[in-house]
This record gives sequence, C-alpha cells and structure tokens, in this order.
Amino acid sequence: MKFFLDTADVDEIREWNATGLLDGVTTNPSLILKSGRNIKEVLAEICDIVDGDVSGEVAATDYDTMLSEGRALAAIADNICIKLPTTLEGVRACKTLVDEGFKTNMTLCFQPTQALLVAKAGATYVSPFIGRLDDMGIDGMELIEDIRTIYDNYGFDTEILAASIRTVNHVKDCALAGADVATLPPSTIEKLVKHPLTDKGLADFLADWAKTGQSIG
Ligand code: E4P
Repeated sequence: MKFFLDTADVDEIREWNATGLLDGVTTNPSLILKSGRNIKEVLAEICDIVDGDVSGEVAATDYDTMLSEGRALAAIADNICIKLPTTLEGVRACKTLVDEGFKTNMTLCFQPTQALLVAKAGATYVSPFIGRLDDMGIDGMELIEDIRTIYDNYGFDTEILAASIRTVNHVKDCALAGADVATLPPSTIEKLVKHPLTDKGLADFLADWAKTGQSIG
C-alpha cells in the first residue's frame, strides 16, 4: 500500500519524505488556500522534494478550461498528476488528458458507478472520500470495498486512492479492503506508529538496560 501525504505544507512534506516512506502527495484548492502559497510555486517545490506523484487540482469545471488548466499544471514537473472533479465534464477531460499521456486523479468520488466511469476513461487514480461519507452516516469503507470488487472484476488498473481519511482505523480498513494508496493528513500518518504499550515497553527496557551498565558499539 502506498502512502501519500494530503497537504501543501512543504515543511511537513520535507519531514515525511526524509523517512523514505512517502510515495506521493495530494493537494486540493482548500489545502492550497491553507498553505497561503501560489499554486504553481508550491507544486513546483513539492515536486522537487518528492519523487512520486503529486496531485494538483484544476479549478475549472468546463471541459475546455479543465484541459488548459490540466496541461498548465502538468507543465510544472514530470511527476504532476492532474486532479479533476468526477463530473461528466471531468471524466471527459480525464479521457483526453490520459490520451495525451498525462496522469490523472479523479477526485470527489462518492459512489461506485463514478469509479467505474473514471476507470473506463483510463484515470490513473480514483479518489473515494471516506470521511465525508462517514460524516453523513454512510459507511465510507463500503465504497472502497465495492470499487475494489468492480476493478478486480474487469481488470481495471486505475488505482484506488483512499481519501478523506480521518483515523488510524480508516487506514487499517483500507489496507484490508485492498486500497492501492491512502492519502493521509500529517496528523494521522504520525499516529500509525503510536501505541502506549510500545512506549511503556520501551521505557521498561531502557530502564533495565541502564542497570546492566553495558553499551553497544
Ligand atoms: C484528497 O485528495 C482529498 O482532497 C482529501 O483527502 C480530502 O479530505 P477532507 O475530506 O478531510 O477534506
């Protein structure tokens, strides 16, 4: 399972990239706003830091402008992935941009039929939003499971990029359901490795080790 960081904060991206565990980055207009940066400048900086795919989202909703914005974003760096909304115009733009050789990430996917359409359009990634469905009392994880089944039924290679992840359990359930990628806010990724019994066990071992009076190397 690949881990992407869901942020446009370059300091956090640098920090997580240094772990060697980061496979890519996703951004969206809200994250660009939060960064306070110019979209092209910040995406260029992120693409410089990270080797993997970096999603930059178009702001247009009509086919022609989505194409021109998508091409402009892709010109920033080779590892830009053009993020488009899962609307009919977006799916059409996806097909054209994929035919031109660009990578695409179809965002705001909330039902399996949307995922089916974007796979037929050749999208590189589909982004089902788990947390926003959970917020409405709908089980977001069922969406991941349904998309996995549909893609496996037909051998689609569009990757399932689980988005709107809020908890460690979301990450576990996505891994069990076979999502290809999870995009995580920095606050969630750091919780993946945390367990109070790990901290307590380590403190006990270190205390006993100190009593041995030994050193290694
Ligand atoms: C990722 O591509 C999405 O933009 C992001 O995960 C949305 O998360 P949110 O629902 O917490 O805003």
